[in-house]
Amino acid sequence: MLSRTAARAPGAGIISHLLKSLATVAIPLNAIVLAAGQGKRMRSTLPKVLHPLAGQPLVAHVLAAVRALAPRTIAVVVGAGADNVRDALAGDALVFAVQDPPRGTGDATRVGLDALAPDGVTLVTIGDIPLAPVEALSRVVAAAAQGQLAVLTARVSDPSGLGRIVRDDTGCVRAIVEERDATDVERRIDEINTGVLAAPTTLLREWVSRLRPDNAQGEYYLTDIVALACADGVPVVAELALDERDVAGINDRAQLAAVERIVQQRRAQALMRDGVTLADPARFDVRGKLACGRDVTIDVGCIFEGEVTLADGVHIGPYCVLRDVTIGAGTSIEAYSHLVGAQVGADCRIGPYARLRPGASLAAAVHVGNFVEVKASALGPGSKANHLAYIGDTTMGAGVNYGAGSITANYDGVAKHRTTIGDRVSIGSNCVLVAPINVGAGATIGAGSVVAQDAPAGKLTVARPRQSTIEGWQRPARNTSEGS
Ligand code: UD1
Ligand code: CA
Repeated sequence: MLSRTAARAPGAGIISHLLKSLATVAIPLNAIVLAAGQGKRMRSTLPKVLHPLAGQPLVAHVLAAVRALAPRTIAVVVGAGADNVRDALAGDALVFAVQDPPRGTGDATRVGLDALAPDGVTLVTIGDIPLAPVEALSRVVAAAAQGQLAVLTARVSDPSGLGRIVRDDTGCVRAIVEERDATDVERRIDEINTGVLAAPTTLLREWVSRLRPDNAQGEYYLTDIVALACADGVPVVAELALDERDVAGINDRAQLAAVERIVQQRRAQALMRDGVTLADPARFDVRGKLACGRDVTIDVGCIFEGEVTLADGVHIGPYCVLRDVTIGAGTSIEAYSHLVGAQVGADCRIGPYARLRPGASLAAAVHVGNFVEVKASALGPGSKANHLAYIGDTTMGAGVNYGAGSITANYDGVAKHRTTIGDRVSIGSNCVLVAPINVGAGATIGAGSVVAQDAPAGKLTVARPRQSTIEGWQRPARNTSEGS
């Protein structure tokens, strides 16, 4: 809820009445997010607003900023059949309004308004400016709460393709002119419409109902309400964005990539400020949340997704992918490792080329080496699987040595079965542990064994044909006098 803090000279008739009524009460906030456009310039079957930026749909970034203002309802305007947009966005205080067909941002706003209560102030934002800051949105809303039409504008180095802010001789905003409809003089204006505005809801409804599609695209332009407000004598205020990068719009894949770099650079800078060493901040991607302790070092080309936590002194080698993982202090993840849904303890050495899958839980000082895959398994302290192995659905004790080429055969074609390996077990090279199976503490399994029954603690179990040598055997020899 917003409180009106200052009075402003209202226009005539109904407008003055509206402004007075806004002045006397705390003002509820509505929000509309426009996300029904086809996004033609993306050349994609995926709706533009669902294209991911830093791991989240574009429109989810916009919604997060809008939510920070605590509106009572947010109407997301979607196109017909945009079930995937609805599915991606379900949440509190959200209503979906369908615009079919898409006939412009003004028409989309009308559709959104029909889904909202008719009072209070309404904030409208386009769904393809994902970095719009809460601070800027709240300035626009605060200005609208004074009974004005407030537009978020920006001064930009390259205004091409954007709506220009046209001011009169006294500097008052008079109109927004889309590039296609602009004169040569107007095209030279470097102050642009960001696509965010707010106004008293009743006024907004009234202006939107008066829009006409008499422009180069034959669309209902939301931007035309500026001229209508001026004609009605309602003040139009331009709130200037502090940084043009914050309001960069995404219409095509090149712009999407450019904004992705803006986000990633900002995240890299923030981490470095917090004491993380990045070998190259330009080759670093966080597509979720990354929390780091002290003296973490991250080499080039790493991707962090979901929620990742790196404790003090963790080192991540080049080209690793980490999604939803926790890494303990002093652990080193070597080059080209792929970790998803795993927990790794302190002082472990993982990789190069290791794969930890969901449910992998490694205690302290575990070594998992090249081409070793671990899934839904707990490895006790100090256990090692250094080369070419598969450990699935296993509970492994402490100090186990798991030999090269050994696997748990955990799947019988129907169900998964568990393997239990006691403390200090030594599994030789190239063994198959056919689950369900228990290998007792201190047992040794001879290399090349296929172990299908429990192996007792403290003993050597070997399950392979005995080696034999055939006396008198002769290798067949080719008769060299015959042709080939
Ligand atoms: C729009 C603005 C322009 C501004 C620019 C900022 C208008 C007419 N133009 O231009 O002044 O400088 O954004 O980036 O408002 N949408 C609908 N239904 C529609 C059409 C669009 O929901 O019928 C949604 C789209 O999904 C998109 C947003 O509105 O999220 C903007 O539409 P887009 O076509 O990208 O507008 P721009 O040409 O970029
Ligand atoms: Ca756009």
